[in-house]
Amino acid sequence: MSAPVRILLFGAGNRGSDAYGAYGLAHPDQVRFVAVAEPNATRRSRFAEIHQIPPANQFNSWQEALQSGKMADAVINATQDEMHHASAIAALTAGYDMLLEKPIAPTLNETLSVMRTARVSGRLLMICHVLRYTQFFQKVHQILTSGQLGQIIHISHNENVSYYHMAHSFVRGNWRNSDQSAPMILAKCCHDLDLLYWFLNEKPTLLNSNGNLSHFRAENTPDGAPERCTDGCPAANSCPYFAPNIYIESLPIKIAVSRSDQPLLRFVGNLALKKPRLANQIAKVVPKIRTLTAYSGWPRNTITEQPKNEQAVWEALKTGPYGRCVYRCDNNVVDHQIVTMTFESGITTTLTMHGHSHEEGRTLRVDGSRATLLGKFTYSQVWLEVHDHGVKPVERITLPSMTDGTSGHGGGDSGLMAQFVKAMRGEQPPLTGWRDSLESHLMAFAAEESRLTNQTIIMQDFRDKAEC
Ligand SMILES: NC(=O)c1ccc[n+]([C@@H]2O[C@H](COP(=O)([O-])OP(=O)(O)OC[C@H]3O[C@@H](n4cnc5c(N)ncnc54)[C@H](O)[C@@H]3O)[C@@H](O)[C@H]2O)c1
Repeated sequence: MSAPVRILLFGAGNRGSDAYGAYGLAHPDQVRFVAVAEPNATRRSRFAEIHQIPPANQFNSWQEALQSGKMADAVINATQDEMHHASAIAALTAGYDMLLEKPIAPTLNETLSVMRTARVSGRLLMICHVLRYTQFFQKVHQILTSGQLGQIIHISHNENVSYYHMAHSFVRGNWRNSDQSAPMILAKCCHDLDLLYWFLNEKPTLLNSNGNLSHFRAENTPDGAPERCTDGCPAANSCPYFAPNIYIESLPIKIAVSRSDQPLLRFVGNLALKKPRLANQIAKVVPKIRTLTAYSGWPRNTITEQPKNEQAVWEALKTGPYGRCVYRCDNNVVDHQIVTMTFESGITTTLTMHGHSHEEGRTLRVDGSRATLLGKFTYSQVWLEVHDHGVKPVERITLPSMTDGTSGHGGGDSGLMAQFVKAMRGEQPPLTGWRDSLESHLMAFAAEESRLTNQTIIMQDFRDKAEC
């Protein structure tokens, strides 16, 4: 049996701890975290304790870790977007294979220089395009490549970002301002662009994109709304973005669970919403229910180090970025954008991203010469339907729910890690290696250029300019 892959983690934040660290705990035969680099002392020591990392292998930063010589087989790089470029180049150069969070880097030039380093170093560089590893998108890929739909004519793909995810990440949070992180089409949709490239196995020739920031703007501030939701906002009862409802009451999470396709979860969600006192009583004898009645997961666990402590959450709202009125933030990323593309064989695609969905998830439609594929991959429903153009009955395929709690991104996080281990052991080539992932990034950068310049991008010219 192969030994576990030894990992040095850069960034023990949300992704580093909750996605990759959690996989290590569940699969000690596959990965072992032997070192951690994280400037936040609470996160660093918590991660080190859980993974039994000795003090000598705990570092304040990725820079410090790399100065200490090679101590692991690979790096998992889960630092923030703007840090990927320097840390990825340094770690590859130091001889580490790497699983790198998306995006590769926030700008085209930085992305290309990471690519060049990967090529020259010959190291394994895999990008966290988690959606390719979900059962849902694997099934879509299989149907498209099987010929069941006939000739593929058009794909319409929607990335429906929920209103509360939009507010959390792209208005109040880390990805709100493209001067500090990546443009929205890269930050949120590089996964979706990657899927289109993977489904079709060909590159786009023409690309057009439009979009803007329509809603989260100062002129939409409710009358009398203060800087912070916690300062007595007159719109508290009607505003869907009222921070205490999102982070203290966890209202959007309870609503999402109450709409699950799993009857038991639906029951618990409704109980927590409509009869919270009874739900709390039941939770005393059925502790599992506390996962919802005393919810402390995402997004609550990203705003404080003590998500189980209500006082700490209030404090974060009163003083930190997540208590700010959504109409009074320093955000500039779009809240809706469309990208239309024509691919080499003439197939057309539209990608629609918007941050105003009642629930989180993707929906898609693929029209072929023999059948149409419809799909829903959201927190309430995960299914595909093939509608044949002939007399065949509709084929309905149900897939594992996103709310089963086994792994983030509908199973994508654990699928990604399992594949990374196989790639490290030389058992399988990476499905999301850097060469393939470059395509999604090129599309995203071209889309941003098209949006900003109001021009159609001829992709060959764009590639020639980028020399790739
Ligand atoms: N694959 C996906 O679907 C997916 C989903 C969400 C986020 N992401 C990406 O994952 C990355 C991490 O996101 P997150 O939500 O975990 O962010 P996060 O802020 O929770 O975690 C980043 C961590 O890096 C640490 N850090 C800062 N400077 C450092 C340094 N010099 N050395 C080492 N660590 C340092 C921070 O203290 C923080 O704990 C981002 O690039 C994000 O875009 C990917």
